[in-house]
Amino acid sequence: MLTSRNAPNRARRLRRLALVLVVVLVAAGCDNMRDQAKFHDPYAPSETFGAAARNLDPNAVPVGFERTDEHLYEGTVDGRLADSFPFEITRETLEEGQRLYDGFCSACHGYSGYGDGVVAAEGYPMPAPASYHIERLRDMPDGYYFQVITDGFGQMFSLASRIQPEDRWAIVAYVRALQLSQNATFDDLPPELQGEF
Ligand code: HEC
Repeated sequence: MLTSRNAPNRARRLRRLALVLVVVLVAAGCDNMRDQAKFHDPYAPSETFGAAARNLDPNAVPVGFERTDEHLYEGTVDGRLADSFPFEITRETLEEGQRLYDGFCSACHGYSGYGDGVVAAEGYPMPAPASYHIERLRDMPDGYYFQVITDGFGQMFSLASRIQPEDRWAIVAYVRALQLSQNATFDDLPPELQGEF
């Protein structure tokens, strides 16, 4: 019989029972998850997907690899073509840029950038590329060159899958050096060199 004295006791017992029930149910649930059907071999055949392992989404970005640096990865600063480099250009950068330019670009653009590489000379079904030394291209910002390498231009295909962003900038720096080499004036020489002429 319920009395005012043992009523709280009973309620406590009921609560404890409910708690034990919850723990038992949760534990049982865990057990089911452990025992669920799953593949142990990533290459095991799967009726739905062909194999247990599935291809990564092509747009998947590994943690820590988001390309948030607009200057480095897009060639722009605040949405406009960058007029500068995203990192310091050293002599080593230029030498690496030369190596990459000679390998990836010179066949069409020529070693000095006049658009007279062997591919153009052989008359491939492509318009000959413009010389880097014309005024229009000399006036283009650095980011323009980065974007042409990244996205391609007209008949020129994109080289993004073959050249990493840092290396693309090294090539841009070398193209700038080529342009300077063909358009430098006497005043561009450092004062200590001017005395030698
Ligand atoms: C297979 C030949 C080929 C290769 C390799 C190539 N280009 Fe080009 N490039 C072209 C052609 C052709 C054009 C002109 C395309 C057009 O007008 O349709 C062009 C255009 C350009 C332009 C734009 C010029 C303009 O008129 O605005 C730049 C900048 C450029 N290339 C840079 C590069 C750089 C840097 C590389 C190496 C990373 C490279 N290209 C590799 C063929 C090539």
